Parts: sequence; structure tokens; C-alpha cells
Amino acid sequence: MNSNINSLIANHTPGHGLAQAFYTDAEVFQTDLREIFYKDWLFAVPACELAKPGSYVTHVVGAYNVIIVRGADDVIRAFHNSCRHRGSIICKAKKGTNPKLVCPYHQWTYELDGRLLWARDMGPDFDAGQHGLKPVHCRVLKGLVYICLAEVAPDFDAFAAVAERYLAPHDLENSKVAFESTIVEKGNWKLVWENNRECYHCGGNHPSLCRTFPEDPNAIGNDNEGAGSEILTKHVARCEAVGAPSTFRISERGDWRFVRTALLGAGESYTMDGKVAVTRPNSTIPFRDAGSLLKYHYPTTWNHFLSDHALVFRVTPISPTETEVSTKWLVHKDAVEGVDYDLKRLTEVWLATNDEDREVVEYNQMGINSPAYQPGPYSVTQESGVLQFVDWYLQTLNRNAAPSAVAAE
Ligand code: FES
Ligand SMILES: [Fe+2]
Repeated sequence: MNSNINSLIANHTPGHGLAQAFYTDAEVFQTDLREIFYKDWLFAVPACELAKPGSYVTHVVGAYNVIIVRGADDVIRAFHNSCRHRGSIICKAKKGTNPKLVCPYHQWTYELDGRLLWARDMGPDFDAGQHGLKPVHCRVLKGLVYICLAEVAPDFDAFAAVAERYLAPHDLENSKVAFESTIVEKGNWKLVWENNRECYHCGGNHPSLCRTFPEDPNAIGNDNEGAGSEILTKHVARCEAVGAPSTFRISERGDWRFVRTALLGAGESYTMDGKVAVTRPNSTIPFRDAGSLLKYHYPTTWNHFLSDHALVFRVTPISPTETEVSTKWLVHKDAVEGVDYDLKRLTEVWLATNDEDREVVEYNQMGINSPAYQPGPYSVTQESGVLQFVDWYLQTLNRNAAPSAVAAE
């Protein structure tokens, strides 16, 4: 890491926001990509989106372009979307289904498992076995597909062991995407996260979400202590008693956390009246007011798993001041629109909430762009999550950029 960024980190005032350059500077942005997004595990898509052999999606992360595809053997794999001939993009679309992966330039043809199957007129000495697609690390975790762009991926198993338990009652493997939305927020990716990690802003900005989501930070437990409100404690015990893991659990490095919070007034789902949005649930929890299993996993995803449906969010940095946020509403695969759920009712709260969040993030970025911006203090009671995110970010930059981490790769 260069000395400029080292000194930015060294000059950070604990308990305060980050300096302007962290949100605006092209070099910091490249460092974020290189040290975080190119090294850590990234959530990509729900596996149900790759419904059958040959189904693929493409995902762009910084300079990388990745194909994630379900093979003829039903295994989901990821490859760099760059042809082994002269490097063309192979899959141009965002998603689709193909029996083979065919490069549009000279039609080199790859199997769904990445092997090069056919290349015209390459001569007798050409070894197709040496020209398969370059793989990208890929793990499927209870219906969530993760990728890692590093040559040597960091450990995934410790997270997966915990996540498998928490996700088990939410049948993502037998779900489908009922709706998806993709927006580009004109703000740095860290501002998107900082905003996500507090509800200090909720009362003033989220009228529909606040019908069911508790603003009280203790309702979801404090990141630093895990302690929560009495309501949380009772709710967790009630859900655990029916086999739904719910206890506040945060990783040692703080890069992921699970906790199942109660919704306000025994609310069942994120709807305007607080009742379920889907009558054919995709969870096995035997009551509707199970609240929301909240998961975040830096740097790319936060999720809400409800008794009736699930919401998965993906954060993708585009430039120092632009971030893509995609949201997918997952319902049981057999739930029928118009019968088991109404699309407007299912999506209206979070479509509104996302747009409200986009607006506060964009105003946040605009204010930070001013030379007069000076990082202010966080509220200890309301913004412990933001503090935790910023600490994780700075520690991760330091750790991933350390000479030993580089040498290990
Ligand atoms: S670049 Fe792909 S076939 Fe030539
Ligand atoms: Fe928000």
C-alpha cells in the first residue's frame, strides 16, 4: 500500500467518520478493490437464479468479469469471462442459458465446466487441454453463491459452518427470484455500508420500513457486546426453541454477523400492514412472527430472512462515487404470483426503502465532496454498527496489504 494511504489510515480519528479521500480518491478506490474485493469472498447470486444446466450470469467486479454457470452435472462453477484465444468476453449478456460457452469472436467453444471443446484450425500441436477457461473460486452455501477472485482464497469454511446452521430453516435451495431491482447510488461503497449499519436515520427517512422494523439499536444487539433488549432475548429464545438459530453471532474479525430480530408489534413481514407477504412460505419456522434473521457479510451483502420470504442485497463498487445495489426477493419456488403473493405488496416496502437510502447516501456523498467536510463523531448508542464497519475496513486494508498477506498469495 502506498504511503499516502498508510498515512490516511494512521491519521484516522477513532470514533469519527473517515477522511474525504476515502470516499472520493481514485487511488483509495483502487486500493479498496485490490486489497478487499479482489481478495475476500464475495456474494454473487442466489443459486436458484441458475435454474438449470447451462444457466449463467455474468458479474463485473472492478476490472474482473466473471461467468457463473451451472454445469451439465448440476455443479455451479465460476470462470473468468475472458477467452483463452485472444481474450474476448465470452458471455456478453447479464444472464442467459447456453448448452456450451461459445466465444462470439472466433467461436472457440467451451464446456460448461470450462474445458475447451473445439477450436477451429489451430493445427496438430495445439493442446486444447491447456486452454480451458480460468477458474474463479466458487462456493455454494445453502443456496447462496459466493466467489473469490484471489489466486489463493482465504478460509470460507468457518463462516460456512455457522451460516449453514442459521440458513437451514430458510429454504433458499427451493426458492425462486420473485423480483429483482438494481440501482446505482451516486455514493462510495463504504457510504452505502455505513448507512446500512445504523438505523439512526430510519425514523426520519423510512416511513414504510418503520412500520415493522425496530429503530432501537438494542433490538438487534450491539455489535461490540452482543447484548440486546429484553424483547430480543425473548424472541431469540422462542425461535431457538423451534430449531431456528437466532442468537447474536459475530465473527472474530467482524466481517459477518447473524441475529434474528423481532419485528414491531409481532409484525410478520416487511409489508405495509405487517402481515405476511407470501402465504406459501419458504421457511420451516412454525410461526409467522419469527421476525427477521439479519445477516451481513462484508464487503458485498446483507440479507433479511423472514418467515415468508427472503431478501438478498449485493453491493458492487463501480467508481469512487458510484455503487450498484441489487436486491432480490426470494419466495418458495412453488409460490404463485397472484395466488400466494402479490408482487406490489411483496416489494413496496423495500423498493421505497432502497430509494430512500439511495437519496441519503447521495446527499452524504455530495456533502463529503466539499472541501469544508470534516469527519464528525459517531453516536455511541446509535452508530456502533458504523463504527464496527469502519474498524473492520481499516483493519482489513492493513491486514490484506501487509507484506505477509501478499507473499502468501
Ligand atoms: S477471442 Fe475467443 S475465439 Fe478468438
Ligand atoms: Fe436505511
